[in-house]
Amino acid sequence: VKAEPTGPLQLFSRWERQQWQATDYALTAEADAWAKLRPFTQEELSALIGQFFLGEAAVTETLAPLAHAAPNPEWQLFLCTQLADEARHTVFFLRYVKAVQRRHEELGDLLSELWRSASAGQIQLFQRELSDATERVRTSPDDEEAWYRAIAIYHLLVEAVLAIAGQKSLLATVRELAVLPVLEDGILHVARDESRHIAFGTDALRHGVQIGYGDAIHDTLSVGIPSVVHVLIDPGRRSPSFLLRPLLLRRAAQLEALWESAMLALLKRVRSIGLAQRAWEIEQTWLVARDDALDRYEAIHGVQHPVRQVTQGPVEVKR
Ligand SMILES: [Fe+2]
Ligand SMILES: [Fe+2]
Repeated sequence: VKAEPTGPLQLFSRWERQQWQATDYALTAEADAWAKLRPFTQEELSALIGQFFLGEAAVTETLAPLAHAAPNPEWQLFLCTQLADEARHTVFFLRYVKAVQRRHEELGDLLSELWRSASAGQIQLFQRELSDATERVRTSPDDEEAWYRAIAIYHLLVEAVLAIAGQKSLLATVRELAVLPVLEDGILHVARDESRHIAFGTDALRHGVQIGYGDAIHDTLSVGIPSVVHVLIDPGRRSPSFLLRPLLLRRAAQLEALWESAMLALLKRVRSIGLAQRAWEIEQTWLVARDDALDRYEAIHGVQHPVRQVTQGPVEVKR
């Protein structure tokens, strides 16, 4: 399979060919189908969609400085297309949430509500790390290192690792339910857009490594990884307890596979931007953060996380 060219102008042209309209979807039938879902399923889906919605809104808000300060004009052209994409993704989730949850609030009010119930990991990653990194670029647009650091958080950690994992689990859930065609179609369009963003970010970071920002990029990734892992594992959220062992095993295997694929996605990008010699360190940072998140789960809920119950045997033995 021939890889598609990923120069900024090729990506621009892909963007032109891959247009879609977030405001085009009719949502009445989808809202009826949603209303027929079991309350537990609605809650699970709402949590996943809420995470996505919040993420899309956070990246929409923080991208402009990166476009403004792009080190070369072709990159700036591409980033202008990405600005439109992220706004479109936010609009898609806004319309969707309003329709299926029968809400009438404005975007700002819905987001404030979502932020109030956001996890510690989400707050750390989006409101501190992503927002500080892009704010730095806004106030010092000539600081090239700051730009590469922000791209490392934005395009690599948030998009190539976290958003891809979120898409996978949301898409798997939606496909299994097979009654929400609008959500499925919307996620697929979002995923196609994200693949262009990630291709751009990978190219830009590879260039950054070549011109001497490898240490800064590596350092940014190391600092950001624990937050990404905490968003993924979300230790504050109690997993349902599984009375039947096969259900526990299934759930644990799903989560393990999701986390593993997120880590592998990260390592793949780390290698492809030219930091292969640091991949081992990055992997250790990830694994330490994963253990830390699972410890925190235990500290908060007083029981082992399903993933640990499986690998370390049952917590309590009933006689
Ligand atoms: Fe997006
Ligand atoms: Fe994106």
